Amino acid sequence: MPLKKKILELKKKKEEVFQGGGEKAIAKQKAIGKLTARERIIALLDEDSFHEYDLFVEHEARDFGMESKVLHGDGVIIGTGTIYGAPVAIFAQDFTVAGGSLGLMHARKITKIMDHAMKMRIPLIGINDSGGARIQEGVNSLAGYGEIFYRNTMASGVIPQISVILGPCAGGAVYSPALTDFVFVVDNISNMFITGPDVIKTVLGEEISKEDLGGARVHSEVTGNAHFYAKSEEECFEQIKKLITYIPWNNSRKARRFEPKLPSKTIKIEDIVPDDPSKPYDVRDVICALVDDSEFFEVQEHWAANIVIGFGRLNGETIGFIANQPLVLAGVLDCDSSDKAARFIRYCDAFNIPIVTLEDLPGYLPGVDQEHAGVIRHGAKLLYAYSEATVPKITVIMRKAYGGGYIAMNSRHLRADFVFAWPTAEIAVMGPEGAANIIFRKEIMAAEDPDKLRQEKVQEYKDKFANPYVAAAKGYVDSVIEPSETRKFLLHAIEVSVNKEVDRPQRKHGVPPF
Ligand code: HXC
Repeated sequence: MPLKKKILELKKKKEEVFQGGGEKAIAKQKAIGKLTARERIIALLDEDSFHEYDLFVEHEARDFGMESKVLHGDGVIIGTGTIYGAPVAIFAQDFTVAGGSLGLMHARKITKIMDHAMKMRIPLIGINDSGGARIQEGVNSLAGYGEIFYRNTMASGVIPQISVILGPCAGGAVYSPALTDFVFVVDNISNMFITGPDVIKTVLGEEISKEDLGGARVHSEVTGNAHFYAKSEEECFEQIKKLITYIPWNNSRKARRFEPKLPSKTIKIEDIVPDDPSKPYDVRDVICALVDDSEFFEVQEHWAANIVIGFGRLNGETIGFIANQPLVLAGVLDCDSSDKAARFIRYCDAFNIPIVTLEDLPGYLPGVDQEHAGVIRHGAKLLYAYSEATVPKITVIMRKAYGGGYIAMNSRHLRADFVFAWPTAEIAVMGPEGAANIIFRKEIMAAEDPDKLRQEKVQEYKDKFANPYVAAAKGYVDSVIEPSETRKFLLHAIEVSVNKEVDRPQRKHGVPPF
């Protein structure tokens, strides 16, 4: 056959595969506001950058009538491309082909691109839209998931792994996204659950919609499984592109350096933080006043909002920010906020991203609920993550740093490289009111005017401890700085930490309080 004819034949074969599950299935997909798998890849990657592999892979199932079924691409598209010039490996499950269900060859395609991403040390993006294990393929499907989970684990901390949930992701399938670094969800499109509404109705007799059980909002606000929430697929792709600009290709690189810029917001830090320590403010305004172009890319914005985490740049370099949020629950630490911050610290540490901690917290959230939910175990994760991290670690104590919270929020004692405190910092075992009531209890009770004496004792305690100078006198705080000097001190600290090296004891791995 002449070459021209062979090329035509190739084109025809490709066209057939490009039809996915056919017009009807595509129309059904579109009717619920979803793009097709191929459209998603095109929308996410740089123009004309996508190169597809394994287009002609076919399934090998022979049971339950599968032998006569043609499943184009076996329901998943894999390939490589670029995002703002950065290389990425990608797979997208095609729900129009057998519900994007995962059979043996479908799994082999995914694991092939995962292996490729690991070999080439480039980020992996997985778009999930699937009915789960292909029922007709039995244990081969389960084996496929196992192979994926193993690779997710091996790739953890080596290459960035991003999961995008754009349809159902049910049963054991949820554990691949859960093992990856960042999970993106879209309102009214994403669904993640171990057991679906049908099972819940059968076993427990309870009715619940799939949105209320495991929709985008639930995973963004309640479970913390999702890191980014979007209203549409387009918005979600913009978020992924932005994330890619903040993170490195792999753990042996640094994130791309951008042109340094001054903060664009002219609001002064002094005007953001109220003098009265009991008055709240939005700590994100402080971050925006510090970072280049005032651009802060928040992670897990809607979950455990009493702590804020995310990326910003200082002098063009990506920095991971962790900040207590006085606007929510006075910025206390609890189970969820400890988990949220601890995981982010480990991410930054794995991928060479310096960490800046902004501290203003009255301590841990008291109560039976928290104790019984395991605040000891969860809180310990934060201590572990800060202590373990070897990237540059800088702390700014803005106002309150009480009790265990003072230690946990990257104190000198957990090996912060630099600890700066504003003159408004209050570093003590507990707040002045509580402290005075305990240590002067007998005197206060015996006094003629207990309230007057209590106020005097509170003031005495404040004068003695509720300031940064006792800690500065011991060297626990390196410099007491004016709030307006914070950016200058951070830039310098990052600059001089560029060659930071620390030794760690020889061990296979630690045993963190997972
Ligand atoms: C084979 C599947 C399938 C599956 C969907 N399809 N899921 N085929 N195995 N798991 C097929 C359907 O038969 C249908 O084929 C097509 O995909 C589209 O599915 P619909 O049901 O028409 O779509 P929709 O109404 O949108 O419902 C989507 C759905 C539903 C909610 C996901 O399909 C569903 O409940 N699927 C089964 C989910 C499930 O129980 N999966 C196993 C989970 S256990 P036709 O030919 O009619 O178009 C699991 C274990 C993993 O995953 C363990 C790992 C450790």
